[in-house]
Amino acid sequence: MPAHTVIEPFRIKSVEPIRWTTRAERELLLRAAYHNLFLLPAEDVLIDLLTDSGTGAMSTDQWAAIMRGDESYAGSRSFDSFRSSVQDIFGYRHVIPTHQGRAAERILFSVMCKKGDVVPNNTHFDTTRANIEFTGAEALDLPCAEGRRPSESHPFKGNMDLTGLEDVIARVGRNRVPLVMLTVTNNSGGGQPVSMENIRQVSAICRRHGIPLYLDACRFAENSYFSKLREPGYSRKSPKEIAQEMFRYGDGCTMSAKKDGMANIGGFLCTNDDKLAQQEKDLLILTEGYPTYGGLAGRDLEAIAVGLQEALHEDYLEYRIASTAYLGNHIAQQGVPIVQPPGGHAVYIDARAFLPHIPPTEFPGVALAAELYLEGGIRSVEIGTLMFGPAAKMDLVRLAIPRRVYTQSHVDYVVEVILEVWRKRESISGLKLTYEAPFLRHFTARLEPCEVPVGKR
Ligand SMILES: Cc1ncc(COP(=O)(O)O)c(C=O)c1O
Repeated sequence: MPAHTVIEPFRIKSVEPIRWTTRAERELLLRAAYHNLFLLPAEDVLIDLLTDSGTGAMSTDQWAAIMRGDESYAGSRSFDSFRSSVQDIFGYRHVIPTHQGRAAERILFSVMCKKGDVVPNNTHFDTTRANIEFTGAEALDLPCAEGRRPSESHPFKGNMDLTGLEDVIARVGRNRVPLVMLTVTNNSGGGQPVSMENIRQVSAICRRHGIPLYLDACRFAENSYFSKLREPGYSRKSPKEIAQEMFRYGDGCTMSAKKDGMANIGGFLCTNDDKLAQQEKDLLILTEGYPTYGGLAGRDLEAIAVGLQEALHEDYLEYRIASTAYLGNHIAQQGVPIVQPPGGHAVYIDARAFLPHIPPTEFPGVALAAELYLEGGIRSVEIGTLMFGPAAKMDLVRLAIPRRVYTQSHVDYVVEVILEVWRKRESISGLKLTYEAPFLRHFTARLEPCEVPVGKR
């Protein structure tokens, strides 16, 4: 009988030790970090599931490409490798490199948005929302109905609410909607995929109204693989063919190459619009750099050129999606409430359901993330009331899996820690803010326990 275990499709050539701490040390460290895991030194974290962004392991081919990096200021050969790899998959006329995704967002929205505008998205990521709001425009989330119900399983919970989109355009008028965004996969909405059918329909609505559609493409390869697994008509297509079709429905994209670019840094902005591209390149020169490097070294461009193609390898995607599901299914089977089904890059615990005694105003997601660190040195991140303020529709704790970094026994350990915290959940208390920045407050916020039960903390 053939073996069924989905294995890591690589072997490990270089290793990085991780460091154990005691519970007593972690109690001190957590207090010194004001209960905000962003403020912890990384070496005091055992398993770091804070983000899948820029934390992946690069392949031998990427490291080899790095040695070929051409560091010329203008007209670098590495830009040509980068642009041809991006165009091969994404197909857009203009490819503008940036140092990461949010720089692409800032440039795009500075050029396209102004006060009074409205930008719909299935769900805006925090940097996307902040960059839109910074221009004075409104960032509007339009997730489909299933996407708002964490425990309900649906193959494409990342879809946009099509009626909602039509209604918004009718209500505010086409002239106040400079563009529509679609985030694949929907990170803030549970890492859930968007179906090709939904992308096609959103695109048709946008074209009918003459509104450009931009994809927030960070996890385009994972989204493509979900279409292959779950969408009729796609099982025989390669992830690359699916990605190419997806991008044909858009007019451009923003991309953080720190995700499905398999790189530690980088991003880009694409568009088919010549006039916009010119304005974007002018802004790029002002703050990022010359258009053939855009804030990146030539070696970074080479790593991304290779990484984008590797992210579409089918054996890699099979392992990637299977290992995330492995974590999600093992904790869900024991009753831990998670966003169902598990996402592509992360498992999202529903902190409101996990800690029903802590109201959203006392940050149940932050409290749960802190407890996972105390219990087992695991770092995760809250996606909820601290991150989005009163706009938060859910309080989630995201366990994001870095690409090609942890093995199955690391994941087994994470499962054990989560189940231990699940058993103790009633003893966990809420938190209150003692400091917040004017925007993107979750990165630097300081918190303290609302009340400290005797003998605890
Ligand atoms: C959906 C989405 N969009 C945009 C970004 C921003 O990318 P970056 O962190 O490279 O600025 C992220 C990062 O996590 C993301 O997940």
